[in-house]
Amino acid sequence: MADLRSNFLGIKSPNPFWLASAPPTDRETNVVRAFKAGWGGVVWKTLGDGDPIVNVSGPRYGAIHSSDRRLIGLNNVELITDRPLEINLQEIKKVKREWSDRAVVVSLMVPCEEKNWADILKRVEETECDGVELNFGCPHGMSERGMGAAVGQVPDYIEMVTRWCKKHTRMPVIVKLTPNITDIRFPARAAHKGGADAVSLINTITSIMTVDLDQMSPWPVIDGQGTHGGYCGPAVKPIALNMVSQIGRDAETRNLPISAIGGVTTWKDAADYIAMGAGNVQVCTAAMTYGFKIVEEMISGLSNFMDEKGYQTIEDFRALALPKFAEWQHLNLNYVVKASIDQDLCISCGRCHQVCEDTSHQAITNMVDGKRKFEVKDEECVGCNLCAIVCPIQDCITMVHQTKGTDPRTGFAYDRPYANWTTHPNNPGAHSAE
Ligand SMILES: Cc1cc2nc3c(=O)[nH]c(=O)nc-3n(C[C@H](O)[C@H](O)[C@H](O)COP(=O)(O)O)c2cc1C
Ligand code: SF4
Ligand code: SF4
Repeated sequence: MADLRSNFLGIKSPNPFWLASAPPTDRETNVVRAFKAGWGGVVWKTLGDGDPIVNVSGPRYGAIHSSDRRLIGLNNVELITDRPLEINLQEIKKVKREWSDRAVVVSLMVPCEEKNWADILKRVEETECDGVELNFGCPHGMSERGMGAAVGQVPDYIEMVTRWCKKHTRMPVIVKLTPNITDIRFPARAAHKGGADAVSLINTITSIMTVDLDQMSPWPVIDGQGTHGGYCGPAVKPIALNMVSQIGRDAETRNLPISAIGGVTTWKDAADYIAMGAGNVQVCTAAMTYGFKIVEEMISGLSNFMDEKGYQTIEDFRALALPKFAEWQHLNLNYVVKASIDQDLCISCGRCHQVCEDTSHQAITNMVDGKRKFEVKDEECVGCNLCAIVCPIQDCITMVHQTKGTDPRTGFAYDRPYANWTTHPNNPGAHSAE
């Protein structure tokens, strides 16, 4: 039986599933419900100093749904906690005492002055929580006040504030990064230089979900106006997964622990992040969409996967997929696949033919011997897999690796050895290197 226990920066939790700093971790009631449901840890909703934040009382969320009403992307115009600091601190202390086997990390965002950070860290330390996460990511509302993404978009500030925090606390410091930058490696390096124990990413992506064309306003509409908000949920996972891998591959940050966030909805999402180097994962939108019990599926799914593959601990498969990441010019140009249609599964809907005809290589028939039939023409197929993606029947179209014979499209043998763009005859760079 797989051992899902997680030890992230010395912070122990029974599993690697933490709730990210957001409404699910806003208060004791929620966090206790989450722990009862089985979550391994939480990052408490971001605390600030000074007067409590004021949120809008109009709609805070926008969403993109699939045609079957499943939530694909969520955006919010919410700010950090609007509850008094003292109340939050009391609750954090109580929860940590009562749930000592769970991780309780506290997210923080205060003005960019050393004294503010020193003061709040001292107060947070008294709660005996397990660590702090610096919120350098909030893309709206707080960034205009010189906090959140306003810090996270300037590597020098990240380094400076991280260094202050390391100076003023003995707790592990996790730096939460904003994706609203050009290259995630720069803020990650800055956090590393400042002494961060780990980075977590991603916070939300600046976005406008849609326009209400009746009111002619960005949506959600608050008394006739809308604003940009932070985008998250399943739709952002590919962006976050790439960023996680960038940090894991970068020479300066490759040993920096990563807490991965962004669209984790199933055990598979978590496994993807761990395979790309993350030490644990954090979840927000999935809990807001399906409730806390979704963690049960995540735990059992990850456990089954690990049992099937013979991985005893998370560390056994962490970062295993990272070395398989190659830059484009190193991909094998002699690797050939062709689409293959299972005629028994095919319902003759014609979608594969339509897309290949209109937007790919005209490689699928729609008529054979005067009858409606969909067959792949190997002499045209470039193996792009668009047809397999649009086919409504799972596994009806598979991409088959060709190893024997000759490709009727190119006239080359299928079993040519690995060769990439760096040595390709069409690459002018390959010749100049000779
Ligand atoms: C309504 C809402 C409020 C959020 N508030 C915070 C916050 O206070 N601090 C923070 O660091 N991140 C906040 N986030 C971002 C999440 O912690 C997380 O980084 C992001 O939602 C991506 O994860 P997901 O795709 O699982 O939702 C918030 C997200 C949502 C949806
Ligand atoms: S893999 Fe691409 S080229 Fe080949 S049949 Fe499918 S859509 Fe057409
Ligand atoms: S999309 Fe799939 S089901 Fe539809 S015709 Fe093509 S192979 Fe058959």
